[in-house]
Amino acid sequence: MGYLLSETLETFLRRQIEVSDPLLQALETEAADKHIAIINREVGQLLSLLMQLKTPRRVLEIGTAIGYSTLWMAGYTKWWGGKIITIERHPERHRRAVQVFKEAGVDHLVQPLLGDASEIIPELTGSFDFIFVDAAKGQYLNWYPYLKQLLAPGGVLVTDNVLYRGLVLPNSQFPRRKKTMVARLRQYLKEIQQPPFTSVILPLGDGVAVSFLQEESQ
Ligand SMILES: C[S@@+](CC[C@H](N)C(=O)[O-])C[C@H]1O[C@@H](n2cnc3c(N)ncnc32)[C@H](O)[C@@H]1O
Repeated sequence: MGYLLSETLETFLRRQIEVSDPLLQALETEAADKHIAIINREVGQLLSLLMQLKTPRRVLEIGTAIGYSTLWMAGYTKWWGGKIITIERHPERHRRAVQVFKEAGVDHLVQPLLGDASEIIPELTGSFDFIFVDAAKGQYLNWYPYLKQLLAPGGVLVTDNVLYRGLVLPNSQFPRRKKTMVARLRQYLKEIQQPPFTSVILPLGDGVAVSFLQEESQ
């Protein structure tokens, strides 16, 4: 359970979301068994809702893990043929995600890339209508200029774990070794809450920011 909402409320919200896909269910169990952090169902539902509202043709995901969040998105992008590029630096997780995409029948739509996003992102070309960031929090600020560049005007950027267990809140107490990470996340939050972005931070999971890149004329 998270720390942002009361347990009662979080349980209630989670019970509203039915996951009927057996593969998604199996990945939830697998992630729990292997201690792999994945989005919770509320964030999955948010992604699927945004997919349906935005119908993105090109999606970028940073942080594939074993493909759980990718599947939440691909389950919808397959309706209109939207393509997803997803990046993971952990070879075993990447290999598992490749299998998962085959098993789900979305391997023609999902391009899983193995490597460090810090090296891959600067090499990406073309623009994306939707970007989901769920990887090393300490890197978000470094990636920000590239993400802004890669996102098409009118595009949506979703960033997970932006509240960092509440450590980004003013006057929060944290060990010295976390100081840089907290400062960088706070700065990232500042960046996405000013033009050309309009953002909202939702208290789901560890905090999810949904940002809209304004069209130039706005
Ligand atoms: C929270 S998990 C992603 C979970 C996945 N989005 C899901 O919900 O199913 C974060 C993943 O990002 C990967 N990661 C962290 N930093 C990365 C980087 N610099 N480049 C590529 N992958 C990275 C980690 O190996 C980890 O598997």
